[in-house]
Formats: sequence, structure tokens, C-alpha cells
Amino acid sequence: MISSPFDDTELKDLRLLFPLTQSGLVYMNHAAIGPLPTPTYNAVQRCIQVRNSGTVENFEEGMQIIEDTRNRAARYINAPNDEQITFLGNTSDAISAISEGLHWDEGDEIILNTLEFPTNVQPFRRLESLGVVIKYVQAENHSFDVSEIEALITPKTKLISVSAVQYLSGFRADLQAIGNLCSSNNILFVVDAIQALGATPLDVQSCKIDALGTGAHKWLMSPMGIGFLYLSDKMSDLIEPFKTGWLSVEDPWELSEFEKSWLPVNQHLETGTPNLLGISGLGASLKVFEDVGTNNIQQHILHLSGYAIDRLKNKSGINVITSEDTSRRMGIVTFSNETTNKNDMDSIIHNLKEDQITISAREGYFRISPHFYNTKEEIDIVINSLFNHL
Ligand SMILES: Cc1ncc(COP(=O)(O)O)c(C=O)c1O
Repeated sequence: MISSPFDDTELKDLRLLFPLTQSGLVYMNHAAIGPLPTPTYNAVQRCIQVRNSGTVENFEEGMQIIEDTRNRAARYINAPNDEQITFLGNTSDAISAISEGLHWDEGDEIILNTLEFPTNVQPFRRLESLGVVIKYVQAENHSFDVSEIEALITPKTKLISVSAVQYLSGFRADLQAIGNLCSSNNILFVVDAIQALGATPLDVQSCKIDALGTGAHKWLMSPMGIGFLYLSDKMSDLIEPFKTGWLSVEDPWELSEFEKSWLPVNQHLETGTPNLLGISGLGASLKVFEDVGTNNIQQHILHLSGYAIDRLKNKSGINVITSEDTSRRMGIVTFSNETTNKNDMDSIIHNLKEDQITISAREGYFRISPHFYNTKEEIDIVINSLFNHL
């Protein structure tokens, strides 16, 4: 089993970043929404304070925060340039920028898979009215191999989109292999990264990703309603902006002059007044990840998820659907209990909440999703308490 990179004292210090740990709450639902670490809370609060009891206007400071956060986000996913990061509201906005922005011909094909969260399906489904064909890898056993994607490729395949980590089983895709497959077949490669970033960084260059979209409220532990889109140069050249505003042009402050040149698509998509609270929170959370060390974070999460799988896998009646293989999982551990039906699950989740434990139930499965400040002892608390309620 993977060991934790943190000793007890280090973990204790890390937990101080999360006041909820002092309240007795055992929170393991980061696949749904993450807590805000104190530096993030402070960054957001500072922005609110300026508006409430400070100078109100703080454009220069705000612009600096936005560009610092763009730089951190670019570094986190190894984007070649900061400008390739566009702040948007959520993952859906980011995927829509691709589906609505590309030019489609009747008969063009898109490959998805049956495990996807609807965010990575609905924006593409809208294209079916244009005659675009969506093909799904029929994922058996909550996972799939790259060869199953390859089997669906035809000369008409234009785009493949996958989640880096699946929301339900926690299956982690082999992005490097899919990226190679796409680039050797001249297919655009899109990644929904929301269940990965924060737990693990991704390298958009080595994975040959053309577009990556994410919201930041889960593992990235940032406010709701902020996310970002990464576009490769190739993708930027291919897409048209799906929305436009006063900041989509050169020299936007020349207000009475309308006939101005459009900005490149990545800047064009930041159409109007930005979500400064969200961006400042995201920037502060990315700094926390840098300070703690992204490799340490990933290793600790794999340590905890591995420990949870070990505890669950031999229990009678329990069916763990998350892979034991560390290259095929990240922070999500999902399982069913043969005697618990879907309707009972809500009351079990409610009972756990009364024990100050938060996990989630999805599609007939229990889902545990620990982050880097959680402990092995907390995994024991969650599993023991859950078994008391089954
Ligand atoms: C894989 C995945 N993509 C996207 C989302 C959410 O999309 P959005 O950021 O648009 O709310 C979720 C969960 O809510 C998810 O699990």
C-alpha cells in the first residue's frame, strides 16, 4: 500500500488550515464539494471587505489577483502560456465553449463513454440536431481500456472527450495513452478535469490535451461558480467564441468606439466583469497546493483511498467498484452493500450526518472522497459508523 508522505505532526499542522477539523466533523465528500482552506477564506473575505468597508473600487488589485491566479492555474496543469487559461463559471461552460465553438459537419463523430457525468455529455448531445453522431464506449465494470476507444475510431471521428477521473467509480483514465491515440489520428482531445485537479495536477502538454475544463468547487477547494478552460493553440485556432461581451475586444475602455478588433478566443470568452471572489479563492487554494506540494497531496490521497479499499474489499456483502490499481484511481472510493437498496441510502447518509460524518450516495453506491488533510483514523471512523448503520 502507498504510504503517506506526511508524519503525524505535519498532518496535524495541515489540518489547522481547515477549521472544520476542529469541530468534530469528518468530511469526506470532496467529490461533491470541498471546504475552503483558511487562506482561501481569507482571500475571499479580503475582497468582500474592500467592497463593504474599504475603498469599494479595487480594480488594480483585482487585476493583479486575476493574473496571479491565471499564472498559478497555468503552472498547475503545465500550460505553455498563462493566456491559455480562460476563467469561466464551471465545467459546463468550459465544455460548451468547445461543443458550441467548433465547426461541425453532418456525420462528424464524437467518442464519449457511458461513465461520464452529464456535464461531459449534454453539451455534445446538442450537436445531434446538426447530424453529429455520438458514439459511447460501453464501459463494463465501471472502467474502460484505451483499446475500447480505439475500436470506435473511424475517419469521421473529430473529437474524444473523457473525464480524467469518473465521478462515480473514481476510475482514472490513462490520459497519456488517449492523448497519443488522438494525436496520431488527428482527433481533438478534450478532458473534464473536475474530479482530478486539486487531488492531482495534470500535464496538458505531455497528455496532448487540446482542451481541459474544470469547475473549482470540489477538489480545488474554491468558491462555487468559478472554473477555467485551457485551450491548446490548435484548439484556439479552431473554435469561435460561443459568447461575447464588452471585454471581448481590443481596447475595451475606448467605450464610444464600437468597430474594434476581436480578441483571440481565449480572451474573448472572458466577456465582462469577472468573478473576483471566485478567482481570488482559486488563487489562494492553488497556492496552498503549491506550498503543501502537489506530489505529497496526490500520494496522501492515494494512501487514504487505498486504505479505504483495503478495509472494504473483504467485507461480506460489500462490492467495491473502484480499482485497487493506483494508476486507475485517485481520491474516490465507491461501493455498494448488497442488502441496502437505493431508497435506504438517503436515510443512512442522514444518520451519518447526525454522527458528524459526511459522505455521499450516488446511483445506488456509497462514495467516500478524502482529501490531503484527512487521516487514516477518519477513514476508520467513516467505515465503522457506516457499518453500524447498515
Ligand atoms: C466529472 C464531473 N464533471 C462536471 C461536474 C460538474 O459540472 P459543473 O462544474 O458544470 O457544475 C461534476 C460534478 O458535479 C463531475 O463529477
